[in-house]
Amino acid sequence: MTVTARLYGDAYGYEAVAAAPRWEGRCGGCGAWNTLVEEVAATTPVALAPAERPVPIGQVAAAGAAARATGISELDRVLGGGLVPGSVTLLGGEPGIGKSTLLLQALAAMAGAGTRCLLVSAEESCQQVRLRAERLDALRPELWLASDTALPHVLAHAAELAPEVLAVDSIQTVHDPALGSSPGSVAQVRGCAAQLVQLAKTRSPAVILVGHVTKEGTLAGPRVLEHVVDTVLSFEGERHHALRLLRAQKHRFGSTDELGLFEMSDAGLRAVADPSCLFLGDRRPGVAGCAVVPVLDGRRPLLVEVQALVAGSSLTMPRRSVQGLDSARVALVLAVLERRCSVSLANSDVYASAAGGVRVGDPGADLGIALALASASSGRPLADDVIACGEIGLGGEVRQVAQTGRRLAEAARLGFRAAIVPGSAPDTGAALELVRVATVRDALDAAGLRAEQPTVVSLAK
Ligand code: TYD
Ligand code: MG
Repeated sequence: MTVTARLYGDAYGYEAVAAAPRWEGRCGGCGAWNTLVEEVAATTPVALAPAERPVPIGQVAAAGAAARATGISELDRVLGGGLVPGSVTLLGGEPGIGKSTLLLQALAAMAGAGTRCLLVSAEESCQQVRLRAERLDALRPELWLASDTALPHVLAHAAELAPEVLAVDSIQTVHDPALGSSPGSVAQVRGCAAQLVQLAKTRSPAVILVGHVTKEGTLAGPRVLEHVVDTVLSFEGERHHALRLLRAQKHRFGSTDELGLFEMSDAGLRAVADPSCLFLGDRRPGVAGCAVVPVLDGRRPLLVEVQALVAGSSLTMPRRSVQGLDSARVALVLAVLERRCSVSLANSDVYASAAGGVRVGDPGADLGIALALASASSGRPLADDVIACGEIGLGGEVRQVAQTGRRLAEAARLGFRAAIVPGSAPDTGAALELVRVATVRDALDAAGLRAEQPTVVSLAK
């Protein structure tokens, strides 16, 4: 047995950098501590398939089977149509986020349309899965179940049943005794996944592998599989919120720009077709410190409410509490407000958040954050039917962000009347009144938020 040192850092591309004959605390190759991962050295030479001759690209047969819709609209959106036969999809996410639920609902939807699906549950018994399926109304004649952790059994089930979709939940809990190392180890996860990939390529079922990731990204987690599968989906969300986001991190058959949104309910995951309505549903009009911003997640515009609260502080270093927003961007906006707009919050506690459990990293939200902070500081609310969109530069200038037109169209669709935008923003027709501003100071003026302003200007409440 050889102990191979692997450093699981992006810089090394997850490749082995050295081998050691016994356990060592420090990698002889790169000097890093505690990065050795045990791997059984291959003893039998791998038989090579006969070489194929290179062909001109025009003579390569066009790709065969097209994607098959799963019937779960938000999943199909992220997959660019559906599952491609012979492809391997990795569904990753933190434990408890809802991977098994999504999988069961997707398989039930496909089985309902006559596609033979086999779900191998290596974590739950068939009875447990059935109970869940009853709750989710997912009992279908073409949905087959097996509860097994041994990979040779999984392959045998697949050979016997010849499913069109094979799902394994999870890849960390199946193991192949022939690989030697303990279940869940890197060698096991990779070895088992390689055999399932082989199955997908030779027998053409669409294979879905579920993989757990922790916030830190476990060693034996899906990260080591990313390069062997065709598609990597990541299922995310705040545990205390019902909102779940599905993204493609890698997709060989389509774009990785789509975002799927679900809401976890008592009856499983529900597709959120109109997320902006969801995020703005509980808005209270006329409250100071709130601004609505159109952010872009992938290609999908979402209207999100940014909220700020400013309170007197008794601390030497006043509190800065940020949730759902990028704290570095909030700090930048605070600095710009102080130096360019004379809005000083240096002696106040500042709380800023994005409502609804969504995480906003988009610089297009900067202007909305600035308006929310200035509104919270002055106690003057923004008008309810106004949105703000733009990135803020250190000079206090407001800059245009990608796909401003698409964002503004979403705001117009939801009935907003006006948008505070950078001077260079494209025209959107008559749907939305555009208030063009060059600087944050102009934006505060336009919104009637500057403390020294004597009268309330048109956009203010
Ligand atoms: P699960 O799909 O088991 O998560 P994972 O496979 O990612 O570990 O679902 C986890 C949570 O979802 C569980 O804590 C309960 C919740 N849940 C609901 O709220 N409603 C439902 O209908 C189901 C099936 C689960
Ligand atoms: Mg699960």
